[in-house]
Amino acid sequence: MQLEAGAVRNRTLLAIAQEHGIPILFNCEAGGCGACVVHVEPASPGGCRAPLTEDEAFLLDAMGKLDEGLEDDDASAPGPRFRLACQYLLSGDDDIVVDFTNDMTGA
Ligand code: FES
Repeated sequence: MQLEAGAVRNRTLLAIAQEHGIPILFNCEAGGCGACVVHVEPASPGGCRAPLTEDEAFLLDAMGKLDEGLEDDDASAPGPRFRLACQYLLSGDDDIVVDFTNDMTGA
């Protein structure tokens, strides 16, 4: 699915998924439960650059899904592989492929 930048800017990945009938599992919608973890890859070089929120980084780290080295804030790094769909605020410039299993043990 391809969405125009203006339609997604400053909205969460979970909100966009819900709007389009994509069944990403969720619970708290506040970055506290991990139910909405998804796997995100850039669809093109530099395609996944939205920064992690503090709450998102904390929970992903607790779940063992925070990639090492992300705290270095390296602009050339590919970005985190796992995100919380309820916390991932789309910039409108995101060019990403999202994968999810909804099994609470991995994306
Ligand atoms: S729904 Fe709980 S962390 Fe996203």
